[in-house]
Amino acid sequence: MAKIIFENLNEEYDLPDGSPIREVCEKAGVPIPCGEGICGACVIQITSGMENLSDYTQEEKDFLGEMGDERLACKCKIKKGTVKITF
Ligand code: FES
Repeated sequence: MAKIIFENLNEEYDLPDGSPIREVCEKAGVPIPCGEGICGACVIQITSGMENLSDYTQEEKDFLGEMGDERLACKCKIKKGTVKITF
């Protein structure tokens, strides 16, 4: 079981290893208008546990580059462990 902690909300969610994080992020209030990596409205900041997320998708590379602490909530998956997010 993996865990996502939304630091700005003080909320946490458990989800199976390997799950997309989209649904949990949507539940927490991250806007997901397109779900396709196009609009950029779902940008989240990873405050810890970036290594527990899936590799950057092409959409994320195009939108964000690859070096920062941001991800697109509609596009990444959690592999395992705990990831802390703020948005
Ligand atoms: S919802 Fe549009 S980029 Fe993620």
